[in-house]
Amino acid sequence: MTTPAEFARRRQQLMRGITGEAGRDAAAIFVSSREIIRNGDVHHAFRQQSTFWYLTGFEEPEAVLVLRPGHAQPVTMFVRPHDPVMAVWVGPRAGVDGAVAQYGADAAHPIEDLEATLPRLLGGARTVYYALGEDARMDALVTRIVGDRRDGAQRGAPAVEAVRDPSALVDGQRLIKSTAEVRALQRAIDVTGAGLVAAMAATRPGMYEYEIQAILEQEYRRLGSPREGFPTIAASGENSCTLHYVSNRRQVQKGDLMLLDTGAEWDYYSADVTRTYPASGKFSAAQRAAYDVVLASQEAGIAKTAPGVSFHAVHQASLRVLVEGLIDLKVLRGSVDSNIERETYRAYYMHSTSHWLGLDVHDAGAYRTGQKSTALRPGMVLTVEPGLYFAPDSKAPKRLRGIGIRIEDDVLVTPSGRRVLSGRIPKAPDALEALVGSAG
Ligand code: GLY
Ligand code: MN
Ligand code: MN
Repeated sequence: MTTPAEFARRRQQLMRGITGEAGRDAAAIFVSSREIIRNGDVHHAFRQQSTFWYLTGFEEPEAVLVLRPGHAQPVTMFVRPHDPVMAVWVGPRAGVDGAVAQYGADAAHPIEDLEATLPRLLGGARTVYYALGEDARMDALVTRIVGDRRDGAQRGAPAVEAVRDPSALVDGQRLIKSTAEVRALQRAIDVTGAGLVAAMAATRPGMYEYEIQAILEQEYRRLGSPREGFPTIAASGENSCTLHYVSNRRQVQKGDLMLLDTGAEWDYYSADVTRTYPASGKFSAAQRAAYDVVLASQEAGIAKTAPGVSFHAVHQASLRVLVEGLIDLKVLRGSVDSNIERETYRAYYMHSTSHWLGLDVHDAGAYRTGQKSTALRPGMVLTVEPGLYFAPDSKAPKRLRGIGIRIEDDVLVTPSGRRVLSGRIPKAPDALEALVGSAG
């Protein structure tokens, strides 16, 4: 589990970044997720906003974090106070004392005191880092404080000169994973691997997609993962051509491919792995030919992943092999270069190859600055996930129609190249054929 010292290091790193960018007279405000009512007095399951958790580890709603770099008490939290009645119904809250004792705040206040106390806490700050537009109530409060300070400036108090979005700083920080973060991600991925192996071993034609999903997710819960990082995609047959298919209601037929795109969470970090396999344990010739193309494309993308290489170069390396394969499969005609230039492959490959991975499945961090693609650095984690989708109504040769294949792994950029964190989860065709349906 992420330690209090690690959360403190993250806050310190961010405060150094803020001071470096805006000088000493700066403050930053972060707001927790809100509880969302499902109906009556029942709420949707609560999950803390990822950046708020990244900086605090605090898992309750109605919380605010205020940072004042360079001040005697740089970390202040506003939280829901202890409530003996609520404690009977839903358990104890951390409370004001807990925010200091367990979450490393230098000072803490009840959330009810926010409006009265925040103006004083922001006193002297010329730059306020806050992501305007994220929380209507905080937007209004920050706007009021900025206005009051402008009025006060006539009498000599400093005005707030800028409200800056902290996302670039904090997302840039989240983009480079610490050793503890890589450990959590590895655990999320290992749990996901155990689920995938159990689900593949149990798969038999005649099962429903949701039964296979249940086997995956029961393994996640059994191993201690509290939830998925995103809704599980359990797509059989032509459903595998729908990129984010999540209804998972169909009965799996003999001869189908099964596509599972899934990620358990561990300590707030999400895996994101896809495996595609024959439901009855044997690829047809057409399925195998298409699978081999996607696998070769994925291996090319992974092999390209290394420090100094640009994020988009990984996509280009994968794409090239994919387009070569589409020509070999007689789906496309002409040269590789002209097909890439004309984007003819888009009818069968409509997403990009990679995204950052971390607390969020599509994690924080810029993919480019202006026109320049982000250069990979050690500590970044990205997916490599090419796919081919021959929808039933596509112009692909008939034998390929209804086949959808994606293969997705999670890759850590290391000083010497890469480590495939999901590399132990079977994906070689022979290994899949041996595994599928092998559960007694
Ligand atoms: N599971 C969503 C994605 O692969 O991006
Ligand atoms: Mn993905
Ligand atoms: Mn995925």
